[in-house]
Amino acid sequence: MNGVDVPSLGVRIHPHYGTFMPTRHEYVDLVASEPLPAHDLAFDIGTGTGVHSAVLAKRGIRRVIGTDLQRRAVDCATENFELLGIADVAEARICDMFPDGKASLIVCNPPWLPGSAATSFDAAIYDPGSQMLLDAIAPAGLEVISRLDTTPAHCRASDATDVLHAARSREVTSLWRLRVAATAASSGAC
Ligand SMILES: C[S@@+](CC[C@H](N)C(=O)[O-])C[C@H]1O[C@@H](n2cnc3c(N)ncnc32)[C@H](O)[C@@H]1O
Repeated sequence: MNGVDVPSLGVRIHPHYGTFMPTRHEYVDLVASEPLPAHDLAFDIGTGTGVHSAVLAKRGIRRVIGTDLQRRAVDCATENFELLGIADVAEARICDMFPDGKASLIVCNPPWLPGSAATSFDAAIYDPGSQMLLDAIAPAGLEVISRLDTTPAHCRASDATDVLHAARSREVTSLWRLRVAATAASSGAC
């Protein structure tokens, strides 16, 4: 397989069968361009092909740990890290959400549909119990720093003959930047 072109990475990423494909690269571009709080350690939760881990490694993060529930995703990400020559920086692990330890930066492109996954393929887009969705922000002691929206750049969004053109042309991809809430940080220190 030829892989998927990821312009902000300058290389192709190779999805395995059943892993989420980064064909809409707007969301990858957002992670490639936003400010980084530190360069020591980052977690990439729900790593899939490992595309965000690769972007972070390319941006100079010294250690990146990607996690995924799916064995096929972890194998895929591991293979991509080797192909891209970043296996000394980026590692993928089978893990539910977070690995042990703390990181200065956590990125996540979560499954977004609040339903149950019927097959293992669905796990990339269905989020049972909204475990990974944004209504968990405040209860987790986090607050939103900023939200950056982009409009779709892929060709099907501008193809008026596409039956889904109306919906596709209105797609918005958002990067939400979060930090530990001021109240949570101060209460943790007491
Ligand atoms: C929308 S895909 C994003 C994949 C990749 N990060 C990207 O942006 O192309 C979501 C990923 O989260 C993984 N996932 C779902 N629930 C998870 C959990 N509880 N812990 C870790 N990964 C999870 C899925 O298997 C899937 O690979």
